[in-house]
Amino acid sequence: MSKNIPAGILATGKALPVGKITNYDLENIVDTSNDWIVERTGIRERRIMTGDESASGLSTRAAVIALERAGLTSAEIDMIIVATVTPDQTLPSAACLVQDKLGAFNASAFDLVAGCTGFLYGLDVAVRYINSGAARHVLLVGVDTLSPIVDWQDRNTCVLFGDGAGAVVLGRVEEGRGVLASKMYSDGSKANLLYIPAGGSTRPATHKTVEGRGHFIKMNGPEVFKFAVTVMVDSINEVLALAGHKATELDLLAPHQANLRIINFACKRLKMKPEQVLINIHRYGNMSSAAIPVVLDEAIEEGKLKAGDLIGLVSFGAGLTWGAAVVRW
Ligand code: ACO
Repeated sequence: MSKNIPAGILATGKALPVGKITNYDLENIVDTSNDWIVERTGIRERRIMTGDESASGLSTRAAVIALERAGLTSAEIDMIIVATVTPDQTLPSAACLVQDKLGAFNASAFDLVAGCTGFLYGLDVAVRYINSGAARHVLLVGVDTLSPIVDWQDRNTCVLFGDGAGAVVLGRVEEGRGVLASKMYSDGSKANLLYIPAGGSTRPATHKTVEGRGHFIKMNGPEVFKFAVTVMVDSINEVLALAGHKATELDLLAPHQANLRIINFACKRLKMKPEQVLINIHRYGNMSSAAIPVVLDEAIEEGKLKAGDLIGLVSFGAGLTWGAAVVRW
């Protein structure tokens, strides 16, 4: 069997909508308070699409930055994966719109739906394509524009989510660097913990589904919370073992940004210092698939993530899905 080609992230980029909603703004929309939101979630504000912004538009902006930093042209991209649950429209994929906007005429393009774990699922796929030699450069975008599918009358969910995009360009790296191991998981028996009842092929849009608010996210927050704290720790430990490392060897952790209490719990169980854990949830809320690439991009810009660091990436989301990866930066 031929040896795997080592694959890793060559460059990152991000794009965030200009519109911002603070917790104080939300106090005027639903029965909530800044204190409740900060204490129970760690979120202070989130970005919201306005005007002609779109999932494919934000993705393209993030991708252009990542490509430029990688020193590549769009023609050098073999595959575009857009991890999202909120493409511009159901057909065609957001990835094809991005492919067109970038002029990436040598790339295949598809969307990947795995809830908030979408970025890590995409990383897992991209790395294996590069490992096998089937692709040389893959553009992976994590984008979610949740504001149109959040029920702004439901205080249990509307305070949590935000819009944004993060892009990475993956390619060959030197031996011992890049993505050392990754593993994805799912449990569809928990599908009803986080879902949108209508708008799919079993309950297409009708007056009744619209009046019943069936096109918005429904979530059982406490059950997702319990699930998240367990799988975050277990999956990072499992993937560390696959890579031949231990949690104590991690320099940094880039966790999904869904709730600061979930992150703090995982950080404590993994015996990591708070300064080793990348956090930006206070600024953006839960951006679903965009959370990890955006927090990575900011860590690089802030000089927190340096060449040679061992970093763990871990996420969970609708499906339910979850997964982790270990990267030697
Ligand atoms: N403001 C004020 N009070 C609120 C709000 C709010 N925004 N939301 C809920 N409450 C109230 C509830 O009504 C409840 O009141 P009651 O006791 O009178 O019934 C009380 O606060 C406690 O509610 P809980 O739901 O038990 O609160 P909890 O501490 O569990 O926090 C939260 C709720 C923040 C949703 C938490 O459960 C959570 O973060 N869960 C995980 C969610 C998550 O990670 N989702 C993303 C998955 S990823 C993806 O794919 C999108």
